[in-house]
Amino acid sequence: MKALVLSGGSGTRLRPFSYSMPKQLIPIANKPVLEHVLENIRDLGVTEIGIIVGDRIHEIAPVLGDGSRFGVRITYIPQDKPRGLAHTVVLAREFLGDDDFVMYLGDNMLPEGVADIAAEFTAERPDAQVVVYKVPNPTAFGVAELGPDGEVLRLVEKPKEPKSDLALIGVYFFTPAIHQAVASIAPSARGELEITDAIQWLVTQGADVRAREYAGYWKDTGKVEDVLECNRHLLEDLTAEVAGEVDEASVLTGAVVVEAGARVVRSRIEGPVVIGAGTVVEDSHLGPHTAIGRDNVLRRAGLTYSITLDGAEVSDVRGLHGSLIGRQAVVGGSAQHRLVVGDHTRVEVAA
Ligand code: TTP
Repeated sequence: MKALVLSGGSGTRLRPFSYSMPKQLIPIANKPVLEHVLENIRDLGVTEIGIIVGDRIHEIAPVLGDGSRFGVRITYIPQDKPRGLAHTVVLAREFLGDDDFVMYLGDNMLPEGVADIAAEFTAERPDAQVVVYKVPNPTAFGVAELGPDGEVLRLVEKPKEPKSDLALIGVYFFTPAIHQAVASIAPSARGELEITDAIQWLVTQGADVRAREYAGYWKDTGKVEDVLECNRHLLEDLTAEVAGEVDEASVLTGAVVVEAGARVVRSRIEGPVVIGAGTVVEDSHLGPHTAIGRDNVLRRAGLTYSITLDGAEVSDVRGLHGSLIGRQAVVGGSAQHRLVVGDHTRVEVAA
C-alpha cells in the first residue's frame, strides 16, 4: 500500500498564519501536524508516500526532506491551485500506479492511529473504505448513510436533514477503482473535484464501499480553536524531561519538558508544558496546556492553554489564554491597549 498526503489547499480558516506558512506545519505539542501525519502512516507499515503540495512546497520540502528521517520515501507532487481532493488523485496517477493507497489529509490528527482500520481494508479489500466519526453536528460535514454491515449506501454533503451522524474524516482507503471514479465526475458548484462525489460514483456503480468508525481522538486542525484543543489533548500524554537549565528559584509541577538550550529563571511552570530549545523564560507563569516554540523570549509573561511558534517574544503581559502567537511575533505590555494587527488577525482584549 502507498500513501497520498494532501498538503496543498488555501487554509483560509487559519489566516493570518496561512499567509506566511502552510497550515500543515503548525506545531502541535511542538511538532508540525505533517510530521504527526507521516509518523502515523509509517506506523501502518507504509513507506512510499506522495505529498500533494501547492505553492508552499519550498517551505514543506526543507522540513520533511526525502522522508528518511521518518523511515519513509517522499515524492512531492505539485498542484497548481486547490482544485479539490479528487483532483489530487488525478495528479498522483503515475505515483500511485496500480497500488492500493491510503489518502490522508495533511491537517488531520488521529493520534491513536488507524492501524485496525487499515488492516481490515488490506484483509478484505473492498473497492474503497472510508473512515467515519460520530459528530454532534452532521449538517457541517459530508455524512455517510450505512447499511447493517457498514456498507455505504449514500454520501451526502452537508445534509440539511441528516439521516446519519457519521461524518467522513480525513483518511480514506482506495483500490485502483478510484481512478475511474475521479475521471468520471465533474467539478462541483464550488468548482472543485470532490472526493465524496467520486466515492458516491463508486457506490452508484455498485462497487463495494465500506465505512469503519474511528473511536479514538480526531481533530481537523483547520481552525485556531481546533489547533489549541488538539495541542491540549496531545500534551496530556507528555512525559517530563528537563534537558535545559532550570534555576533554583523556579518551580515545575506536572509534566514539563524543557528542551536542550532552554533556560527557565524565577518562573512557575505548571505542566503539561513544553518549552522549545533555545527559549528563555524569566519571571513568568506558564501552563497548563501550553507549548512554547524554539528561541522564544518570555519575560514577566503569563500564558495558559496557548501555543507560541518559533522566535516569538512575550513580555510584561499576564493572563494570556487560548492564544496562538506566530513566528517572530512580539507581544508586549503597555498602559493602554495598543494594537498593530495584520490582515485577518483576530484579537480579543479583556474588557
Ligand atoms: P481543506 O481544509 O478542506 O481546504 P483548505 O486547505 O483550502 O482550507 P480552508 O477551508 O481553510 O481554506 O483541505 C483539506 C486538506 O487537503 C488540507 O491539508 C489541504 C489539502 N488540499 C489539497 O492538498 N488540495 C486541494 O485541492 C484541497 C481542496 C485541499
